[in-house]
Amino acid sequence: MNAMYESWEALKKDCLGCMKCPLGQTRTNLVFGVGNEKAEVMFVGEGPGYNEDMQGEPFVGRGGQLLDKFLEYVDLDRRKNIYIANMVKCRPPENRDPADSEMDCCIDWLREQTRLIRPKIIVCLGRISAQRLISKDFKVTQQHGQFIEKGGILFMGTFHPAALLRNPNNKPLALEDFISLKEKIKEICDHTYEV
Ligand code: URA
Repeated sequence: MNAMYESWEALKKDCLGCMKCPLGQTRTNLVFGVGNEKAEVMFVGEGPGYNEDMQGEPFVGRGGQLLDKFLEYVDLDRRKNIYIANMVKCRPPENRDPADSEMDCCIDWLREQTRLIRPKIIVCLGRISAQRLISKDFKVTQQHGQFIEKGGILFMGTFHPAALLRNPNNKPLALEDFISLKEKIKEICDHTYEV
């Protein structure tokens, strides 16, 4: 894709028809993203699971419910002041990790979404997005909650909600990350909390 999209509608229309990688053939719904298209804060997960594939929205399963709780705790809301997307927009079979080749095919859509949204902060949910967007050897257990500036955007990696469901011991650490995020938003964002 070489196009630089001027409008959200054109981007979404082309993306919804994407067949650039084999995941397009097995999807029920492409999961484009959800939220405020002018958000200052964007969250990026890994890829749709079963529920997301069925409903066409990111993070709507059990992990998504947990994510929504964390968001609510720091006054963030997918319907109001953030945007949520994934590294790949179509479900990898059996919920396996997306392959590098699939992320390569899909990354331009995310890049265009980011270009149109112009977020100040991007939160990577889990290893897959943190290693792709922050650094190749990112270790969530060691580097979660740290803000790293890249290309004028502050990136932060935290635990993937599904990983927190598997290992609830890390929930307090994840909560601390969300509290740091709230502090950072208050420091550098203008309209997320509309003071
Ligand atoms: N896991 C993800 O990484 N993204 C989703 O949208 C759902 C589950």
